[in-house]
Amino acid sequence: MGSRILVLNGPNLNMLGVRQPEVYGDGSYADVVEICTRSARNRGAEAEVRQTNDEAEMLVWIHGLARERDFSAIVINPAAWTHTSVALADALVIPEVPVVEVHISNVHAREGFRQHSYVSPIASAVIAGCGLAGYGYAVDRAVDLAQS
Ligand code: DQA
Repeated sequence: MGSRILVLNGPNLNMLGVRQPEVYGDGSYADVVEICTRSARNRGAEAEVRQTNDEAEMLVWIHGLARERDFSAIVINPAAWTHTSVALADALVIPEVPVVEVHISNVHAREGFRQHSYVSPIASAVIAGCGLAGYGYAVDRAVDLAQS
């Protein structure tokens, strides 16, 4: 088996398909799981996809990776925590694995508060505005980074 990629999703992403389809499209969270799984498999890798609305749970998952070393890269859509959480950015450097940040929408073309990310300075790559397909690109890049 090739690289294992941990795909993390922050708050409200479980509501994809219902939540502002004019911004995030009609695809569901199940579609996110499918896209990531397929993208990893195409590269001979494996993706584990998780979502939480609880920031503490997200931090525990990241700390778990630092201890277990069971994934070689992270793909993360931090959702609203992108713009608010120093704690999340601090946690993401602890496992010392590459991080790819993904956003479904083009956050740079939206409200001013979405144009600052606490995560981008510690990310190896940032993908925004590609819809759910962006998850596929992010996993693909994460596999490259995991193998380099
Ligand atoms: C998002 C953009 C964020 O600004 C927003 O809070 C989200 C989703 C995106 O995928 O486009 O929840 O990360």
